[in-house]
Amino acid sequence: KGKISIGLCGLGTVGTGVIKILQNHQEEIKYKLGCELEVKKILVHTLEKARDIEVNAGVLTTEPDDLVRDQEIDIIIEVMGGIDSTYELLEKALQHKKHIITANKDLMAVYGQKLHKIAKTNDCDIFYEASVAGGIPILRSLTDGLASDRIQKMMGIVNGTTNYILTKMTDEQRTFTDVLQEAQELGYAESDPAADVGGLDAARKMALLANLAFKMDIHLEDVAVAGITSISQEDIVFAKRLGYVVKLIGIASMEEGKVEVSVEPTLLPQDHPLALVKNEYNAVYVHGEAVGETMFYGPGAGSMPTATSVVSDLMEAVKNIRLGISGNSYITPQFKTKLKNDSE
Ligand code: NAP
Ligand code: HSE
Repeated sequence: KGKISIGLCGLGTVGTGVIKILQNHQEEIKYKLGCELEVKKILVHTLEKARDIEVNAGVLTTEPDDLVRDQEIDIIIEVMGGIDSTYELLEKALQHKKHIITANKDLMAVYGQKLHKIAKTNDCDIFYEASVAGGIPILRSLTDGLASDRIQKMMGIVNGTTNYILTKMTDEQRTFTDVLQEAQELGYAESDPAADVGGLDAARKMALLANLAFKMDIHLEDVAVAGITSISQEDIVFAKRLGYVVKLIGIASMEEGKVEVSVEPTLLPQDHPLALVKNEYNAVYVHGEAVGETMFYGPGAGSMPTATSVVSDLMEAVKNIRLGISGNSYITPQFKTKLKNDSE
């Protein structure tokens, strides 16, 4: 196919970043894929809303079927959020043989296994790199980079909003409410930030990481969760005086076949590497039997970092379509051969 058509669900913080990357990096993307990408339809909630970017009026729609039933659309990018109704949309899209890219951890934590099964039945792929730790390619690192190892433990900061709040409360003595509002304005927080500050967002991400790393089927109910709403300014000042910082830490470990996953506010010594992770940045320590300790660090939320992961997933899906294969893995050698054969 000389051109791959995409249906984009959502044109908010992440969706806008996706369009910007597709426009700004158009040449590099075309060069790497050997074909053009076209965003044919964009599903939004409100057609009349003012947008940060220019899109042709005919591209926007409020009707999911305009994307799902369009036979020319090969890939659906879901960056609108929501769980049950979004699941129904994606289920239908898979039944119409569309590959899926999503940034939605809420959805994947609840319906991930089900969607994978439907995708397999329909020979389609689901990619969700952006759903955990925004711009850090942590899912690929676990499944591909560390594929040869046995992962034993992961520990990290996987929610940008709470890390932003705790950082500003610690370094600038600002109030929880004031900084939460700023995190919302910067596009880091969920539309309902209760999931961020209550620890649920981090719990969903830790469950997704644990399932990939340990090849398990961990459910959200299995994760022990505490958020940061009960952390006061006094707690932070007191911890600082003793040489500690408060961080919302997720831990997932596998010992003798038993997996434990938790998310809770934790006191870390000020010189601990995770104590130095500030603002919306995330970091994940991964301990593998052979590799020992590795740490992945980068922006965990925000428009462009998250969109980078989405578009990288999109490029992998396009490579798979061009090769006529499915699966989430690096396929560079095969892909290179295919491109070479095509051009001869
Ligand atoms: P957002 O700024 O609130 O944007 C949501 C977009 O989806 C809007 O364009 C909205 O339309 C559209 N939308 C929402 N519900 C819809 C519905 N029922 N039908 C049609 N359109 C609908 O959200 P976001 O921050 O981009 O986040 C999107 C997804 O990415 C979420 O799953 C989130 O968890 C995930 N994520 C976000 C970040 C981040 O840093 N923001 C990072 C990683 C993952 P209107 O524009 O018309 O309102
Ligand atoms: N609300 C999420 C966070 C967005 O703050 O980490 C990225 O998943």
